[in-house]
Amino acid sequence: MRKLSICFLTVLFLLNVFCTEVFCEKYKDGKYKGISTGYVGPVEVEVKIKSGKISQVKVINHAENIPGTSIKDIPERIIKAQNTKDVDTVSGATITSKAILRGVTEALKKASKKSEKPKKKPLKKIETVMEGSIVLPDPDLTKGMPLMKCLKNRKTSRSFKKKELTFDIISELLWAANGINRIDNGKRTAPSAMNSQEIDIYVALKRGLYKYNHKKHLLSPVLNKDIRELTGYQKFTQIAPVNLIYVANLNKLTGGDGTMKEFYAATDTGFICQNVYLYCASEGLSTVVLGWVDRKKLEKVMKLPKNKKVTLVQPVGFPE
Ligand SMILES: Cc1cc2nc3c(=O)[nH]c(=O)nc-3n(C[C@H](O)[C@H](O)[C@H](O)COP(=O)(O)O)c2cc1C
Repeated sequence: MRKLSICFLTVLFLLNVFCTEVFCEKYKDGKYKGISTGYVGPVEVEVKIKSGKISQVKVINHAENIPGTSIKDIPERIIKAQNTKDVDTVSGATITSKAILRGVTEALKKASKKSEKPKKKPLKKIETVMEGSIVLPDPDLTKGMPLMKCLKNRKTSRSFKKKELTFDIISELLWAANGINRIDNGKRTAPSAMNSQEIDIYVALKRGLYKYNHKKHLLSPVLNKDIRELTGYQKFTQIAPVNLIYVANLNKLTGGDGTMKEFYAATDTGFICQNVYLYCASEGLSTVVLGWVDRKKLEKVMKLPKNKKVTLVQPVGFPE
């Protein structure tokens, strides 16, 4: 009987070792990074996997102003739990805690043995939805020039190559322009008077006119024709591969009279334009904001209702 128990225990032990080594170890050893949006901006984390286990979690970059103890506590809790789903957030720092957890989840996905081959989605995905919406690739929020350098390089440039911008660039450009930068409240990279969010970005490409859907980060088709030559009186609008057309939905501006509405719409557009200027400075792209536009003609061809008005246009492209 004693021999039988020893045998049974040995088998159990071997099964346990085999299972841990072959089946249960989910992660590949190494260091992996992940990023998410916190209360103030991006929160970047690094996860170390040793012998298939989460051995270290570090918040390597953040600008959170009220992180509480989350920067220290959440990594410790993750290591203890060996996952992110069983980890409680730190009270008073819920958003930062969640950002760390999301970042670590992203890093763990990279470390996961199941996803050893990184899937590159953009082109295939874009080609398959060409007839309708264009799903944009996720913007890379880790890249870019330091802000002071961008400001130093920011300028108007009116020379453009015909060369198309990639959808990676278009994705980042639109996210920088007015994408969602705070997942918890849906607010965006540009401020908005009374949070009216009345400015829509239309994107005139050679293949047609699209509207930027910031919630889904995709381009919805509007017109199946190239209207770039109508976006301004200056010749380069036909050459620049991307013409951003800013349209104010005046119905969304509920406070104030007509003059006030126009003032807010123009101001809000200005912030978006500057975001585009800064992204272009960072990426070495050409851009110019255009007020000299035949708005009546453009609004007609875009089939805009009366409450929607073109404020400004901004071509973007590679410099000549
Ligand atoms: C509201 C606004 C409207 C503009 N309209 C035009 C325009 O229609 N055509 C153009 O070539 N430049 C236009 N510009 C660009 C300005 O000419 C440019 O910003 C100015 O010369 C300063 O150059 P910088 O942007 O390189 O500092 C406009 C700029 C602003 C802010």
